[in-house]
Amino acid sequence: MCTCKYLIGLLVFTIGCCYVTCRTIYVELNTPTYEEIAFLKKYGYLPEESGEDLDFVYTPQSISEALKKMQAFAGLPATGSLDSETKQLFKKKRCGIKDIENTSSRIRRYVIQQGWNKKHITYKVINGSATLPKDRVEKQVEAGLAIWAPHGGLQFSKVEDGPADIRFSFGRQDHGDGFPFDGPGRVVAHAFPPPVGALHFDDDELWGDSPNKEEQGENDITDFFAVAVHEIGHALGLCHSDVKTSVMYPYYKVPVEQLNIDDIMGMHELYMKDELIEEPIPPEVTESVSALVPKFTRADSDLSDENEIPDLCYTNYDTVQVIQGKIFVFEEEWVWVLSKRRHIEEGYPKRFHDVFIGLPAEVNIIKTIYEKPNGNISIFSGRNFWEFDPSFHLLRRGNISEYAIPRHVPELTTVFTSNYNNKTYLIEYERFWRYDEKAGAMDKGYPKEMSAWRQLPYPVDAAIIWEEDTYFFRGPRFWRFDNELVQAHEYYPLPTAQIWFPCPSNDEMYKYVTNDEP
Ligand SMILES: *[C@@H]1O[C@H](CO)[C@@H](O)[C@H](O)[C@H]1NC(C)=O
Ligand SMILES: *[C@@H]1O[C@H](CO)[C@@H](O)[C@H](O)[C@H]1NC(C)=O
Ligand SMILES: *[C@@H]1O[C@H](CO)[C@@H](O)[C@H](O)[C@H]1NC(C)=O
Ligand SMILES: *[C@@H]1O[C@H](CO)[C@@H](O)[C@H](O)[C@H]1NC(C)=O
Ligand SMILES: *[C@@H]1O[C@H](CO)[C@@H](O)[C@H](O)[C@H]1NC(C)=O
Ligand SMILES: [Zn+2]
Ligand SMILES: [Zn+2]
Repeated sequence: MCTCKYLIGLLVFTIGCCYVTCRTIYVELNTPTYEEIAFLKKYGYLPEESGEDLDFVYTPQSISEALKKMQAFAGLPATGSLDSETKQLFKKKRCGIKDIENTSSRIRRYVIQQGWNKKHITYKVINGSATLPKDRVEKQVEAGLAIWAPHGGLQFSKVEDGPADIRFSFGRQDHGDGFPFDGPGRVVAHAFPPPVGALHFDDDELWGDSPNKEEQGENDITDFFAVAVHEIGHALGLCHSDVKTSVMYPYYKVPVEQLNIDDIMGMHELYMKDELIEEPIPPEVTESVSALVPKFTRADSDLSDENEIPDLCYTNYDTVQVIQGKIFVFEEEWVWVLSKRRHIEEGYPKRFHDVFIGLPAEVNIIKTIYEKPNGNISIFSGRNFWEFDPSFHLLRRGNISEYAIPRHVPELTTVFTSNYNNKTYLIEYERFWRYDEKAGAMDKGYPKEMSAWRQLPYPVDAAIIWEEDTYFFRGPRFWRFDNELVQAHEYYPLPTAQIWFPCPSNDEMYKYVTNDEP
């Protein structure tokens, strides 16, 4: 009877007698055990057999395909065969949530379902475990929530009694939700996405809160913090990620210290929806758009104009500035205008000479530009600046001596007016001055060294105020700046293209989350 053609329906009903025999043959054939097939189904790599259909058969091909998917998701070579490393995966501690929701749908790097549709979220710790009392669980939970909060602009508050959006509890085996735990090891926790928000931790694990004492995989202790950070991700609406360094990778790993860009991108999509449009629409650089743009006469005008427009997703940016509430991005002789993050206005990019009427032709790069508190706009190039009225018509030409910038300074790299003190900062390379627009005079005590702004590399290409926050840009990266602490926020830099412009994820962007040069 057990010829072991993966007669799953049969196995389910005759598991008692069949198991031992089947197992032996399975091993000989290098094919999965019943438990391993159950694993592949549970985590979405094999379709569930349809209820009563006893004839449902998994073929060697479908098993091999499932193994490949599982290996790829885990970051192993996708061989489709049961090598020892793959065998290990079946036994690893992990989260009990599916990796792939639908085997026929494409795997995305970060998958999201839905968020809470609000920024203020309540939570409650219902109980602790035998090895980790409730008060220590609460401490870890608080720290875990704090890791996620800044990336969704979220605020968490604890409730002692009554309902809460997110609830943490421990339970063992069948704990009443139809997803029983499995005793020590393997599944250690699972969580339900919004609007349910329950997080369950397997009480048959030995939970601990001092990860330093353990070595990965060796110790019986399971680090509660590492697992909690992951499960909170689910409770906020994130699914599993196949990026091994992400918090949402399904297999247990310690230590967890911070989110990966993959996790952060998921949060941005879930909770920054107002700013981020759902599906990135790449800027359409078609004939019709460039036809709208009057051509600039030049010697090599035979060359196709399309080829000259830089790809916003794969470039650095000369500068970025917010003018009249919109984001202006400058690169080479082009300007893009975005009404909000990732939303390029129709008709852009345009040549900036066609936007700033009267700007001399010899100005072929815009190093920095800013909107003055009186509404006029100044473009800087070398020691000169050109001031435009709010409808982008040239008013006059000036030079930076007017700002009392010393003669030996060849150019400014960034000028912006802070919303923190309404002062204008004029940045050279490694130094900056502070100008009081109201008084029309430079503040005393300047220049200062850029290193005063901690965690920011310099020189910077741009600085902007966007929705009350200060951002700095350099190359492909940007930082959010904390004016109170005078330093860049934790978790920055992030890649500029994917967060500000409608650019798809790519492998490059993972390099841009550190202050190291590319
Ligand atoms: C899986 O996705 C495919 C197409 O993407 C769809 O036809 C199918 O119904 C989905 N199956 C389930 C179980 O959601
Ligand atoms: C913890 O709370 C959950 C949910 O209320 C419950 O199922 C479980 O039995 C509790 N565990 C202990 C040890 O009290
Ligand atoms: C700003 O622009 C207005 C015209 O819109 C002009 O009259 C004024 O002189 C400009 N301000 C400065 C400081 O140049
Ligand atoms: C810069 O402007 C000041 C005052 O507006 C003027 O005296 C000076 O000659 C100018 N310098 C240059 C190099 O244009
Ligand atoms: C800066 O200017 C804005 C608008 O003029 C004003 O509302 C705000 O109070 C000012 N802030 C400071 C710190 O002066
Ligand atoms: Zn998980
Ligand atoms: Zn549960």
